Amino acid sequence: MSPTGPGASEPVVRELPAVEVPGHRVSGLGTPDHPMRIMTRRAAGLDGGGWDAEARAQVESLFDSLAPEWHTRTSEARTAVVRDALDRGAVTGGAVAVEVGSGIGTYSTLLAERFGLVAAVDLSYEMLRLAPGAPAARVHADAARLPVRTGCADAVVLINALLFPGEVDRALAPGGLVVWVNSSGEHTPIHLPARDVVAALPGEWRGVAGRAGYGTWCVLHRAGDRRDRR
Ligand SMILES: C[S@@+](CC[C@H](N)C(=O)[O-])C[C@H]1O[C@@H](n2cnc3c(N)ncnc32)[C@H](O)[C@@H]1O
Repeated sequence: MSPTGPGASEPVVRELPAVEVPGHRVSGLGTPDHPMRIMTRRAAGLDGGGWDAEARAQVESLFDSLAPEWHTRTSEARTAVVRDALDRGAVTGGAVAVEVGSGIGTYSTLLAERFGLVAAVDLSYEMLRLAPGAPAARVHADAARLPVRTGCADAVVLINALLFPGEVDRALAPGGLVVWVNSSGEHTPIHLPARDVVAALPGEWRGVAGRAGYGTWCVLHRAGDRRDRR
């Protein structure tokens, strides 16, 4: 991305070199007209339609039905994409991470290695039922209204999950990080490029973006917070 704003000498999002992930295969599902891509853009406020009771019911029912086979979509290579985001995105950890759309908990343990408490939020009860009870705390809720205190989270982590920009911003502590990962990059149904994540979030943000195998990710912080002064 190119620099924006007065006096911005650094790019808004700095692209890191791509790294290979041996054995990584794309889901091959995500296209601009995929229903979940459309929903992703609606939820993020990038396209019209918004998020309402009908959208919530559709998405909940879809993921309830996918829950029993969700484990077939996990692999070491996909976990390597998340690990790359945490490592090269300098997500060193903190007290609290809110994991939005945690599914069957595939990545919660990885997050719990870095954060004292991981609140793993999902809309689908069937997904949550299949997730281990520890180390993350499982929370059945709609991320459009996160049941967490304002400014509580050192990181809000979204791995193939819908972005509700106002709630992510509200939940995040000063100096906190937004971690956005798409396991199959542009081929992920729930995909947004880093520039759209930045555009959707309220206020100004900076960060880094990477590509690992077919996966893409970005880690963002609010512009002007202490990370900019390091
Ligand atoms: C594509 S799956 C990703 C699951 C997991 N993060 C992964 O990558 O394996 C999206 C998850 O987000 C959940 N989800 C969808 N809409 C949600 C919402 N509004 N609030 C919370 N979770 C939601 C779904 O139930 C599903 O478990």
